[in-house]
This record gives sequence, structure tokens and C-alpha cells, in this order.
Amino acid sequence: MYSEKVMDHFRNPRNVGEIEDADGIGEVGNARCGDIMKMYLKIEDGVIVDVKFKTFGCGSAIASSSMATELIKGKTIEEAMEVTNKAVAEALDGLPPIKMHCSLLAEQAIKAALYDYAKKNNVKIKGLENFNPVEDIHDHEHA
Ligand code: FES
Repeated sequence: MYSEKVMDHFRNPRNVGEIEDADGIGEVGNARCGDIMKMYLKIEDGVIVDVKFKTFGCGSAIASSSMATELIKGKTIEEAMEVTNKAVAEALDGLPPIKMHCSLLAEQAIKAALYDYAKKNNVKIKGLENFNPVEDIHDHEHA
């Protein structure tokens, strides 16, 4: 049911923890399953130089957040904005259809952290002008 990559990132999640002086922090939750994800970003000159996460959630959510941190580390803000939940799931060699929403939590956590950064630094990030985290994630799957 789960790919080896999912199992690997679930058992050995990368970039777990928090960044004390983070430039952007995003917290999103899924109202239905109650899972919560928190993402911390350190941003220098428009580049994500460090990223950490904490996820209280299912195995797919943990694997997705771990993979998402790997996908955005060292990338520019614009590149990170292009990391969709589909990209996260593909990088994990797929997720079962009923678990696709868990990867959406990761995408939303990245966007929420970038939104927080934009607000604090008074910068505009294309695509985040009116960011509203999706709470009822099961109804908004972009699988
Ligand atoms: Fe809630 Fe996976 S079941 S995020």
C-alpha cells in the first residue's frame, strides 16, 4: 500500500524540530482528522536556507512534511511556491488516493509559513495575496 519512500520518510523523517528565530512560521490543521502541521522557515535573500517541521498526524502526513522540507530546502520562495501536494506525493513515489489530502497539509504548511514571512517583512509573494489555509482539507483535494 505504501511506497518504500513513504515508509522511509515516516520512519526517519528529515528536518524535524523547530527553528527558534524562524522568519516564517505556518501552522495548518485538518479539521476532519484533527492532524496538525507546523512549518518553520529561515529565509535569506529570498532563499529558504533552513526548514524544520513538527507534525502531529498520520504517517502519510509525517512522510509528506518530511519530503516537502527536502523539496524546498535551498530553493527560492518562488520555487517553493510551486511545490504542490501532487509534487510531494510524486516525490514519495505516490500515496494511496485516500491519503492524498495528507500531502495537501504539507503544501498548505509551506504556504502558511511563506505567508507569515511575507506579512512580517512586508513583501509580496505572488499567489499568496489572499492566502487562507484550507481547513476542511478532505473537501479540497487536488489529487
Ligand atoms: Fe489526517 Fe493524514 S489522516 S493528515
